[in-house]
Amino acid sequence: MTIQDLSWRQFFKRKMGENMNLFEIKGLYKCYQKKAKPKVYAVYNVNLNIKKGEVLGLVGESGCGKTTLGKMLLKLEQPTRGRILFHEQDITDYSFPQMRKIRNNMQMTFQGSANAFNPYFTVEQIIGEPLHNYSTESQGEQEKKIVDMLEKVGLSKTYLTRYSHEMSGGQRQRVGIARALILHPEFVVCDEAVSSIDYALKNQILTLLTGLKEQFGLTYLFISHDISAVNKICDRVVVMYLGNIVEIIPRINDKAEHPYTKALLAATLIPDPKKRRKNTILFREGEELKIPEKGCVFQNRCLYTQEICKTEQPALMSKHDRHDVACHLCHGH
Ligand SMILES: Nc1ncnc2c1ncn2[C@@H]1O[C@H](COP(=O)(O)OP(=O)(O)OP(=O)(O)O)[C@@H](O)[C@H]1O
Ligand SMILES: [Mg+2]
Repeated sequence: MTIQDLSWRQFFKRKMGENMNLFEIKGLYKCYQKKAKPKVYAVYNVNLNIKKGEVLGLVGESGCGKTTLGKMLLKLEQPTRGRILFHEQDITDYSFPQMRKIRNNMQMTFQGSANAFNPYFTVEQIIGEPLHNYSTESQGEQEKKIVDMLEKVGLSKTYLTRYSHEMSGGQRQRVGIARALILHPEFVVCDEAVSSIDYALKNQILTLLTGLKEQFGLTYLFISHDISAVNKICDRVVVMYLGNIVEIIPRINDKAEHPYTKALLAATLIPDPKKRRKNTILFREGEELKIPEKGCVFQNRCLYTQEICKTEQPALMSKHDRHDVACHLCHGH
């Protein structure tokens, strides 16, 4: 992107912000505990910076804590421990009214949007709700914006009067994206935003997300099971296993070093889901997944576990430029 493509204001805003951290996440934990049941750590000691203007991918198997981490950044879940800094402001203990002031700047597309929308709202009301809450524009201008955004996500005007239950999963996902982007927020958590959309439309949505990012200097946390989508739009990808970050890498490819990331990558290369389940170390039916008391979080499934892995937790350390790994083996033990 050159200065010709952007207004001066946008250009300097981008330049100034290029190396700035939008979020600094320090030692973040989320623990869920139901009365008689043992504690479950959904997120465990996560340290991470999200740079302004970057698309940060977040991958890992179901239940590893991706949505929980995304919700904590928006303070839709309160962290158990740790700090969240947004624009260098510590927002960890912000109250609801304090968060309201910055909430229009951060949005989330919710996973499985079927339950995420008010069933009594039409598409126009769903997408228009953030405008209604935060915008001072006239009704006519708001309506124009809603139609514009609907068209951008590939839905025609005729959808304006539909209700959530009258749409397919993919259509609901697109409405969710339109709703999240209508205020041009600075930060968006896209939680499985393209997971039930077919290939052609998926590419269209990914292009839309990238285009809006360039146009408005957005920053995304892009949560997905779809490695090819992640590789396509992300600047860096965070790999999570049982609430822990095990690797941060520009692309999930053969440069990945953590045994878990390698297993994830291998699984995506096997097209048949049945064979995929048999052939990888990722799926073990009925196995209870628990964070080990000490040592590496992946030690019970890893093919290369050594003594040190059972006693010392490997730190997330830099391996190459923009590539961090938490593995004793990868750091020469
Ligand atoms: N409100 C809650 N109460 C209790 N446990 C919860 C709650 N929300 C999430 N969990 C647990 O926290 C863990 C992480 O859940 P989370 O939804 O963040 O996973 P995820 O990585 O988004 O999974 P998926 O890929 O299936 O969406 C899971 O073990 C889940 O059961
Ligand atoms: Mg999730």
